Amino acid sequence: MVDLRVTLGRLQLKNPVLVASGTFGYVREMAGFVHLERLGGVIPKTVTFRPRAGNPTPRTVETPSGLLNAIGLDNDGITHFREHHLPYLRTVGTAVIANIAGEDEDQFVAMAEMLGQEPGLAAVELNRLVRRVRGACPLPIIAKLTPNVNDIVPIAAAAAEAGADAVSLINTIKGMAVDWRRRRPILANDIGGLSGPAIKPVALRMVWEVARALPHLAIIGIGGIARASDALEFMVAGASAIQVGTATFYNPPASENLLDELTGLLGETGVTAAAEIIGTLRSNRP
Ligand SMILES: Cc1cc2nc3c(=O)[nH]c(=O)nc-3n(C[C@H](O)[C@H](O)[C@H](O)COP(=O)(O)O)c2cc1C
Repeated sequence: MVDLRVTLGRLQLKNPVLVASGTFGYVREMAGFVHLERLGGVIPKTVTFRPRAGNPTPRTVETPSGLLNAIGLDNDGITHFREHHLPYLRTVGTAVIANIAGEDEDQFVAMAEMLGQEPGLAAVELNRLVRRVRGACPLPIIAKLTPNVNDIVPIAAAAAEAGADAVSLINTIKGMAVDWRRRRPILANDIGGLSGPAIKPVALRMVWEVARALPHLAIIGIGGIARASDALEFMVAGASAIQVGTATFYNPPASENLLDELTGLLGETGVTAAAEIIGTLRSNRP
C-alpha cells in the first residue's frame, strides 16, 4: 500500500488529488460522478461578498488544446454560500477548501473572518494575495496566483511572507479567440482565461521556479492535469498536491480515475509514500 497523505503548511490531506475552483460546481452537482470522500479535497466555485451575475454570454469557447473562459465569477454571494452550500459541504467526507474573491481587501478580510467561524472547512483559498487575511482567519490560507505576470517568484515570496500556508499555481492565462468573418472576438468579454492541456508547460515551469526559489513554501500544482502522469510531473517539480480543472468538463470522473492511476503508478515505481517524490526533479544543467 502506498501512503498518499501529504502536508501543506498547516493543511493535511489524505491524498494529493484536489479539484479546481470553478470546474466542480458547488460539489453536489458532481456527487453522481465521483466518490467525493475518496478525493484529497474539494474546492467549490469562487464565492464573492455580494452575488454576481458574471459576464454576458458566450462565456466559453474551445480552442486547440484548451478552453477559454470569461465567466466573471458568477455566484450567489457569501451569505447564500454559508446558508445553502456549507451544510452540504460538511457532509462530503473530505477536506473542503472555500475559494473567495473580494472586490477590495476589506471584502476579503470580512469573508475570511466569516468562514473562520464556520465549522467543517479545512482551508481558505484566496483568489488573490491578501496580507490581512492571515490575521483575520484561523484556517490555513492558500493564495491562488495568476500566471499573468513576468516573474512568479516574487509574487509567491510575498504570499509566503504574508503568511500563506501554500500557493496554488496556476490560474488561467489571458487569451482570446477571434471570429475573423464577423470581425469580432468570440467571447462577449473579448478576452478570457485559457485552461487545459495548452497551459500545462507554463504551469510546470512556474511550479518548478517557485519550488527552487522557495523550498519551504508548499505548492499546489494546477494547469492541464488530466491523468496521473500529469500529476506526478507536477509533484516531482515541487507540488505537494494538485488540482484537476478543465479535465472534469470532458471527463467528469477524471479526478477519481487519476487517483486510482496515481496509486498504481507509485506502487509500480516502488514508492511507499507519495510525499517521497515531491520536489525530486533535478536540473539537466550543470
Ligand atoms: C470554466 C472555468 C471556470 C473557472 N472558475 C474559477 C473560479 O471561479 N475561481 C478560480 O479560482 N478559478 C477558476 N477557474 C480556474 C481553474 O480553477 C484553474 O486554475 C484553471 O482552469 C487551470 O487548471 P486546468 O487547466 O486544469 O483547468 C476556472 C476555470 C474554468 C475553465
